[in-house]
Amino acid sequence: MLTEAQKEHYAKDGYLVLPGFKSPADIAALRERAAQIVEAFDPAESVSIFTTQEQEKTTDDYFLGSADKVRCFFEEEAFGADGALRQDKSLSINKIGHALHDIDPVFMAFSRDDKLAEVAEDIGLVEAQVWQSMYIFKQPGIGGEVRWHQDATYFDSTPISVTTFWFALEDATLENGCLWVEPGGHRGPLRERFIREGDAVRVEKLDAMPWPDDSTAIPVEVAAGSLVCFHGLLPHYSAPNRSPVSRHAYTLHATDGRTAYSAGNWIQRGKDLPVRGFR
Ligand code: FE2
Repeated sequence: MLTEAQKEHYAKDGYLVLPGFKSPADIAALRERAAQIVEAFDPAESVSIFTTQEQEKTTDDYFLGSADKVRCFFEEEAFGADGALRQDKSLSINKIGHALHDIDPVFMAFSRDDKLAEVAEDIGLVEAQVWQSMYIFKQPGIGGEVRWHQDATYFDSTPISVTTFWFALEDATLENGCLWVEPGGHRGPLRERFIREGDAVRVEKLDAMPWPDDSTAIPVEVAAGSLVCFHGLLPHYSAPNRSPVSRHAYTLHATDGRTAYSAGNWIQRGKDLPVRGFR
């Protein structure tokens, strides 16, 4: 599937853009299904930003309990001071996660095909295990920033193998908060590890190496239908979306089954929903 030049680019820069990977029909189906999920979502299921003493724990439980489910999460700026939504629910959701690819038939179909399996193999995932899916809305006006991070922080394995598959469902531009990456930054160390201990999570600092700045980071502006693959150690972020247009994207995170998946990762799967590959 991938050419030698593409494989070399991935090895050298830590990411690869494949334009036109998904068809307009594929994208339309996914967007329609996401809209249905949001429409059916009752905001009362998730406790939002209201300040009660139990708030933090409730939020954690809702998040941690989503590893093998389909749940909606609000944008941080979705609510006004009075606790009411500032705009329609459909424009207030930050993302849907985290097991769409294993539960929802439309997402399942989008997430698994031979073409995707071949790309994964070509960039080194011999026995792909797809742990997580997220539909990211990056809503107009309030789409929040995602600060610099490495996805291996959330999917540790020995050795590190996590790879991200980022599908642009709309054009991603500077204005609406496209990805920014540090080419070659995947050769740097893992800075942080996100660790789950029972019902609690914490972030462990591993390396003091600073995050990239504007001198080494580049924007990855891509057209709808593009697939961006990147290495789990590649530093990346996305700016807030202050534009009037949304920036929908869909992501999958996969590790290689030949590497040892950490028991401290927040997503674990039991026998009822075993982790699977791209085929
Ligand atoms: Fe990320």
